[in-house]
Amino acid sequence: MKKSLGARTLSFPLPAFLVGSYDEEGRANLMTAAWGGIVCSEPPCLAVAIRPSRWTFSAIVKNKAFTVSIPNSRLAAAVDYVGMFSGKDHDKFARTGLTPVKSDLVNAPYVDESPLIIECQLHNSLELGSHTLFVGCIADVKAEADLDFSRGSLDINEVDPIIYNSGGDYHKVGASLGKAYSIGMALKA
Ligand SMILES: Cc1cc2nc3c(=O)[nH]c(=O)nc-3n(C[C@H](O)[C@H](O)[C@H](O)COP(=O)(O)O)c2cc1C
Repeated sequence: MKKSLGARTLSFPLPAFLVGSYDEEGRANLMTAAWGGIVCSEPPCLAVAIRPSRWTFSAIVKNKAFTVSIPNSRLAAAVDYVGMFSGKDHDKFARTGLTPVKSDLVNAPYVDESPLIIECQLHNSLELGSHTLFVGCIADVKAEADLDFSRGSLDINEVDPIIYNSGGDYHKVGASLGKAYSIGMALKA
């Protein structure tokens, strides 16, 4: 038995992305975005949905570039802070103590303290209504040097990303349920 909750933006889980950009005066800025994710493999693309009222919005339109820094759980308070105050009148890097690093590939800064960085060149944008979907071509992914990439992927527990509980709080990653493209084979006739 299901009850209708109406047409609303309720989905689990959501990421906590730190979107980095340079504003019109060249100042490094950060905002939190939970609405986004990987959307294409060839070419590798990532999309974020951003309201036109965000300071970040005009920065992405101008520079045609942005970064996504994946924060670890130690950065939860900073994630929340940069999601509440605008770069229009706050230096959010200075306030949080996070270090901006200029991407060598796209015209946007990333967060040095984040274990995983995704650098994006704007590919396309789609006006949806309240939000515009910015689709970025991934120019590079940079990971903290001590993270193990020997098997072509990263250990989610080592990265320790933040999971945003839609409209609620921030969570750490929980227990593994089994190997992808593997545990389902037990159900094959
Ligand atoms: C957890 C969380 C998730 C958020 N997700 C989004 C999002 O996906 N898109 C968006 O436009 N704003 C989102 N926001 C709000 C912006 O981060 C916030 O308005 C921020 O102050 C904008 O900064 P800016 O004006 O410097 O660009 C989120 C805020 C929080 C706290």
